This record gives sequence, C-alpha cells and structure tokens, in this order.
Amino acid sequence: MRISIDYTNMLSSAVGAAGITAEELRGEFPRGAEAISSLRAKRDSIRWRDLPYNQGAIVERIKAVAADVRARAESFVVLGIGGSALGPIAVQQALNHPFHNELPREKRNGPRLYVADNVDPERMRALFEVIDPETTVFNVITKSGSTSETMAQLLTAMRMLVDLYGEEHLKDRLIATTDSEKGNLIGIAKQYGLTTFFVPEGVGGRFSELCPVGLLPAAVCGIDIDEMLKGAALMDELCDNDNIEENPALMYALLETLAMKKGANIGVLMPYADSLKYFADWYAQLWAESLGKRRGEERVGQTPVKALGVTDQHSQVQLYTDGPFDKTITFLGVENYRTEFVIPHAADDYPNVAFLSGHTFNELISAERRATEHAVTVSGHMNKTVLLPEVNANTIGQLIMLFELATAYAGELLGIDAYDQPGVEEGKNMTYALLGKKGYEAKLAEMKASSERKTV
Ligand code: PA5
Repeated sequence: MRISIDYTNMLSSAVGAAGITAEELRGEFPRGAEAISSLRAKRDSIRWRDLPYNQGAIVERIKAVAADVRARAESFVVLGIGGSALGPIAVQQALNHPFHNELPREKRNGPRLYVADNVDPERMRALFEVIDPETTVFNVITKSGSTSETMAQLLTAMRMLVDLYGEEHLKDRLIATTDSEKGNLIGIAKQYGLTTFFVPEGVGGRFSELCPVGLLPAAVCGIDIDEMLKGAALMDELCDNDNIEENPALMYALLETLAMKKGANIGVLMPYADSLKYFADWYAQLWAESLGKRRGEERVGQTPVKALGVTDQHSQVQLYTDGPFDKTITFLGVENYRTEFVIPHAADDYPNVAFLSGHTFNELISAERRATEHAVTVSGHMNKTVLLPEVNANTIGQLIMLFELATAYAGELLGIDAYDQPGVEEGKNMTYALLGKKGYEAKLAEMKASSERKTV
C-alpha cells in the first residue's frame, strides 16, 4: 500500500499556458540528478533520513516508557512549540479517533493528549484547569533546550508539580526530550533524574517527528510506531531512486520549484480528510521554515497555505479557480476512508435533496475532491494529488518522509540551506532581549532605536 502522486495537472497539456511543459520538466532532470547526488553527499549531516533504520533500541525504550504512562496517566501533556509540537498533533489527529479526548477511558486509545504549542495566557490557564495533576504526565520537548515558550510552559508545570508533590517526585510526572548536551533542559533533566530521550544530532525541529519527539507521544496514544517507521523507510528508499520519474519526492520538488519560476509563490496543501487537517499545519512549517531563505541578494521560498476539503471549497476555492496564477494546489486524497457512512433517506418528496440519499459520505467527499480538481484544472491552475490508499500508521510514515524529502530536494534545487532558520532565531533573541535575559542588552537597544510607531 503506497501513496502516489498524480501530477498530470501540473503540466501545460492539462492546464494550458500557466502549466509546465514536458520540455521544461525534462530540461530540469540534470539538475534533479545533481540534487540526488548533493543530498546523498549530505547523508552524514541530515540524520533524519536514518531515523527509520537506526532506532531499534530507542523504539523499545519508547514503548516501555509509553506502556508505563498508559497504565497510570489520564492525560499526557506535550510542552513544546513548532517542530516539537506540530508533528505530535498531526499524527494524533491522523491516526486516533477525531474526538479522542472526549471519549471515555475504555474507548480511548490511551490517555488524553494535549499539546501546548503556544503561550496564549488564556489557553495556558485553561489547560491547567482541565487536567488533573494527579493523573497527568508531562513531556517537555525542545531540541535547543532554551526556547522561551517551552521554558515558560515547563516552569508552570514544574512549579505546580513541586508544590503538590515535592521535587523528588518530578521524575514520576515529567519526561524530557532534548539535545543530549546543549541547552538548559538537559541540565534540569539530570538534576531531577527525569526520564530523558534525545533528539539526535542532525535532526532539526521540523524534521524530528520520526525520532522520540514524535514517537513517544504517538506510542503513549497507542499508535503503532513500528509501522510509521516502516512506511518512512519505504518512502526513503523510493525517493533515493536515480530514475527521476520514479522518485516521488524529487518529482514533487522539481514541479514546485519549476512552478515557483513561473510565479507560483504560494503552495496550497488541501487534504480531503479531517484526519489530515493538521498534517497541513506540519507541512506549512516544514516548507516555509526550510525554504524561505536569502540566496545572496535574492529571496526565495513559497508561501504555504493550509486548506481543508471540502470545508474550504466554501471559502478559498473561488480564489483558486478565478484568482491569479500565483499558486499551486496539492490535494491530499484518500482512497478508502476507515469507515463507510451512508446518507439516509429522510426527505424523499424533495428530489433535489433526495438524490443524495443512498449515497455515502465517502462518495460525496471523493466526488467533491474530483469536482474541485476539475474546476481548478479547467480554470488553468496547476494542481496535483497525493493519494493515500488509506490513512494508517504506515501511510502516515510514508507521507512524513515524502514531504521531508521533497523539502530537502527543493532546498538543493533552490541552492539554499534548508536546515537553518536565522529568521526564527532572530525572533527568539528579540524575545530574550525584551524579557530582560542577560547578554541581550545590545539587542534591546537595537529594538528601542527603531521603535517609533505610526498608528492610526
Ligand atoms: O524547526 C525548527 O528548528 C524550529 O521550528 C523549532 O522546532 C522551534 O523553534 C522549537 O525549537 P526547540 O525544539 O529548540 O524548542
């Protein structure tokens, strides 16, 4: 069962003038071949590619810790942001019941999962109101060990736990996932004897879902992490193919970078499944933070937009059909949904409504995806469909690796470093300065010097 990409509608033969010609695509193949070589040459530094293969003992430890948490916790709270939060959210939404947290314990596939992913004071207070500290285990995740948002979330949890149970019991209620050497969290983890997992070297935040960052929350919630890794391995092998036409990630990257040259500065990802809604959030970070870069004097990148089928047919699709040719649309389709739901007969006297009865919601959502694909195509907009035979642990592993590798190949084709994030770091440093962290006085002065506001 493997996912596939139908890119017919990226080509001018389907969409006309705004599309990519067969010659243009073939003309990029030599650059594609170079991208394969340069990515292979980086294999030692992009260790996220090894994750499907080199975590045997770590996976066993994750499963043991997860079993312990599942036996005693009613809530599992991930403290983290960005690459330390979006993957766990996406995988949970994809593979567990859509209303997991609302289900009674016996119907739920593990404890309730909450992921902080922000520092909004209202939501933070609300989170600490809904959990019962007695039956909650926290997992603080930060690669750098110093992100202000995560540290603020951690301080809140630690204070509560220390006040209620004493420092000596922190280790029963708090798990750390961080770099093995760098940052503050590793020091805290050692001081309090916390169960600790490491984010391996060469695995950046947005590429970390397949290491303990994502695997521990998934395993705690009963997800088959072996299958996720198997799916990722399958996709990694497919995407190492020298035959470009059989290499899905490279083809994705070639098509998108060619589209960018034609002015498609926006890349919409539109899953037709609520289960994949937050996969689009995860993609948005991966694509934006990896590819939005300076290349000498030039600026490159493609703005990711998240949409949901069919919901956004009633919101954004008008723009996608009749609006400017500044975007590509990637549909995420699902061949077999995990349930079949028949639309019942209830108003047979009204033929304009009754025609729906007897069909299934499965048929309805699939017809709407095909209809939207057609409408977008005949209006001349480049689009493609990534098709999942079914949403399961294996295909989600494939999907994660497909997008990570497509991003990596796009980075090679664009000639930028897909693994740094100087713009994000600048924001982090400014936050330190504003909140009075020692060593950031010059940054604060810089900010004050440019602080004259124009308001109306
Ligand atoms: O991809 C990245 O590196 C970032 O988006 C990080 O995930 C995010 O800034 C959180 O960083 P950290 O895990 O160090 O707390």
